[in-house]
Amino acid sequence: MTAPTSPTVNPSLGSPARPASDASEASEAYDAYNAYKARGLKLNMQRGQPSDADFDLSNALLQAVGADDVVAAGGIDIRNYPGGVAGLAEARELFGDYLGLAAANVLVWNNASLELQGHVLTQMLLQGPRNRSPWAAHAPTIVVTTPGYDRHFTLLESLGFRLAMVDMQADGPDVQAIEALVERDPSVRGVLFVPTYSNPGGETISAAKAERLAALTASAADFTIFADDAYRAHHLSDTDRDTPVNFVELVAAAGNPDGAYVFASTSKITFSGAGLGFVGASETNIAHLSSYLFALSIGPNKIEQLRHVKFLSGYPGGIAGLMSAHAALIAPKFAAVEQILSSELGGTGLARWTSPKGGYFVSLDTTRPIADKVVELANGAGVSLTPAGSTFPPGRDETNTNIRLAPTRPELADVELAMRVVAVCIRLASEEYDAAQS
Ligand SMILES: Cc1ncc(COP(=O)(O)O)c(C=O)c1O
Repeated sequence: MTAPTSPTVNPSLGSPARPASDASEASEAYDAYNAYKARGLKLNMQRGQPSDADFDLSNALLQAVGADDVVAAGGIDIRNYPGGVAGLAEARELFGDYLGLAAANVLVWNNASLELQGHVLTQMLLQGPRNRSPWAAHAPTIVVTTPGYDRHFTLLESLGFRLAMVDMQADGPDVQAIEALVERDPSVRGVLFVPTYSNPGGETISAAKAERLAALTASAADFTIFADDAYRAHHLSDTDRDTPVNFVELVAAAGNPDGAYVFASTSKITFSGAGLGFVGASETNIAHLSSYLFALSIGPNKIEQLRHVKFLSGYPGGIAGLMSAHAALIAPKFAAVEQILSSELGGTGLARWTSPKGGYFVSLDTTRPIADKVVELANGAGVSLTPAGSTFPPGRDETNTNIRLAPTRPELADVELAMRVVAVCIRLASEEYDAAQS
């Protein structure tokens, strides 16, 4: 995907054309780019995944339940059907603690959270919130924040929701814009966003904004907050942290206790897509969701639930202790991104980027409309980046500036090298863009 105004890659050489203007800076970036290209690199800054060293922290999980441990609290045999759809009591308690909620406010489901988000949204479409009418009948709209998480967009679009975009700001979603949308449009039924260390910018909603969002009056009386708190405990440091909010408590305090669902999972605590997804909500909402899931399943995988409980409660310091061990592995990679972007691009005015205190991503915006070109150049030099546009629905960034950087999975040395390549690509693409404009 190349913007028409972008300078072209010389197809015969597979290298960018030397910029028309002969500024020494231009040839420097050009030469540096080609030097990286000649190295035949194969680096990946695209995948929002833990590294193998992160996974290794949880290997004991694989043996956490043996033949002697098959009976859970209340005499539930984890090998058999009975046990209910809301999950094992001890799992609801553990992840209730994690979300700052009572066990009764939590439903623990299967391997990850995205499916659970899909179930809740589907129930809203087909049955509606408890005691209200199905949303599907009224061409519902959900507000999303941009730049944002492409799988949210895909999920909502595939279910037939219309999407309304608001900006993700440094202190959370643009709540004023959400207020304006919900005030005039009763089709706007909810907002789906990441409240803590958002994907891709790492922003965390402030307490003040969260309170305002929880209390907003929408023309749709069943307006609902869907908070995907995937990175709630994913701090980079033990001291310098953002504070996650508690939307279930906030909506209750605002007199609308059924107005929020909070999702999370262990995908970036233990194993990705091979852990547990869970949701926090009012007891009414948990009962309502349970009735829907009961039609789909006799119950979730209790073996996985029990071994997560045993492993996570037995880990020194519990989930918080495990997250500190992850931070020790991940923080140096984020520091490398910041350090290299600052040293290579700081003061050039070519880009700005976020400096999150947690989460899995850094969001970078080029000053010029060249994100697609930067990604293309980086790919050409063997550095795979998230496709330009994917942080906006429907995969199209009108400003062509946003690039998501995912530093968690590669080794530290690879993150450093990849970021040097990215910086050179930004310099080169900027020069080429300027040359094409002049
Ligand atoms: C914001 C956000 N939510 C959800 C997920 C996926 O979570 P799960 O594995 O629990 O489905 C991701 C994965 O990158 C994510 O970034």
